[in-house]
Amino acid sequence: MVTGAFGYTGRYIAKRLLAAGAPVKTITGHPDRAHTLGGNIEVAPLDFEDQDGLARSLEGADVLYNTYWVRFARGTTTFDTAVSNSRALIRAAERAGVRRLVHISITNASSESGLPYFRGKGLVEEAVATSDLSYAIIRPTVIFGPEDILINNIGWVLRRFPVFAVFGSGDYKVQPVFVEDVAEIAVAAAQHDATETIDAVGSETFGYEQLVRLVAAAVNSRARIAHVSPAVAMWLSRVVGYIVRDVVVTRDEIDGLMAGLLVSEGPATGATRFSEWLEQNAESIGARYTSELSRHYR
Ligand SMILES: NC(=O)c1ccc[n+]([C@@H]2O[C@H](COP(=O)([O-])OP(=O)(O)OC[C@H]3O[C@@H](n4cnc5c(N)ncnc54)[C@H](OP(=O)(O)O)[C@@H]3O)[C@@H](O)[C@H]2O)c1
Repeated sequence: MVTGAFGYTGRYIAKRLLAAGAPVKTITGHPDRAHTLGGNIEVAPLDFEDQDGLARSLEGADVLYNTYWVRFARGTTTFDTAVSNSRALIRAAERAGVRRLVHISITNASSESGLPYFRGKGLVEEAVATSDLSYAIIRPTVIFGPEDILINNIGWVLRRFPVFAVFGSGDYKVQPVFVEDVAEIAVAAAQHDATETIDAVGSETFGYEQLVRLVAAAVNSRARIAHVSPAVAMWLSRVVGYIVRDVVVTRDEIDGLMAGLLVSEGPATGATRFSEWLEQNAESIGARYTSELSRHYR
């Protein structure tokens, strides 16, 4: 069982499982989304109110790959509801007798964090750790790959605007990891029963401005890089957000990046080099805007 098999990370996990001949089922809020995963996927609804239904849909599943999370609070969806929904999913997996939970978290998740995204992820990690399930927690940094949001939309802005706003000094670090590498780590973690927490991190670490400049070079952007305060960056992102009808970046994401939370102190676990992937995919990066609101709310 993969949550969000027609979404981003879940898609690559599902693809890998299907390629290995494993039957895949998904819990998703988008049952009709077109996919090219190369196999049949049984679909169950993502309905956290229906505990019995959730447990029933998990019956017979050997492994639950949980990618469920929300990028920001919107309407009735908050980080608190995302935490309680995640707890509901874990309880349903316990009831259904799932053998192993492979849970996708984020680097430096902590229930002590002042940032709601990282705090919520920390609380869910605690719920995973105190469950009856055998588990692995996979903690990616920023995930890159086709259809990613952050790198693609940096490219999109760089292609279209004369100035690119870098918040703060731009020297805080980021260590992107390839989406296929995250999927590989997740699937490998399901193969045994040891309790483990693994940072999913690429082999290259960049300063944020350095990364923006690499993307700029790849997409032949002549945009000037300007340093602005996080408050000004938020204001600018709202202007761009108004144009594209999306939430371009959140204050949590800016603060998380600036606090250096998207790097790992451990060894690299993803082999794909961001700089090489960037070169090979330069044409498509930022060619079209990737919208979070279209993906999950429209
Ligand atoms: N993307 C990154 O750069 C990154 C970095 C570090 C960690 N992570 C973690 O990796 C996991 C997967 O991230 P992703 O970017 O690949 O996400 P995603 O595919 O866009 O979404 C993952 C799952 O969450 C559900 N979901 C997302 N937003 C929702 C909303 N507003 N309301 C209801 N359901 C929602 C999706 O539902 P549907 O099935 O309906 O689409 C899907 O099942 C998350 O736990 C995230 O915290 C991501």
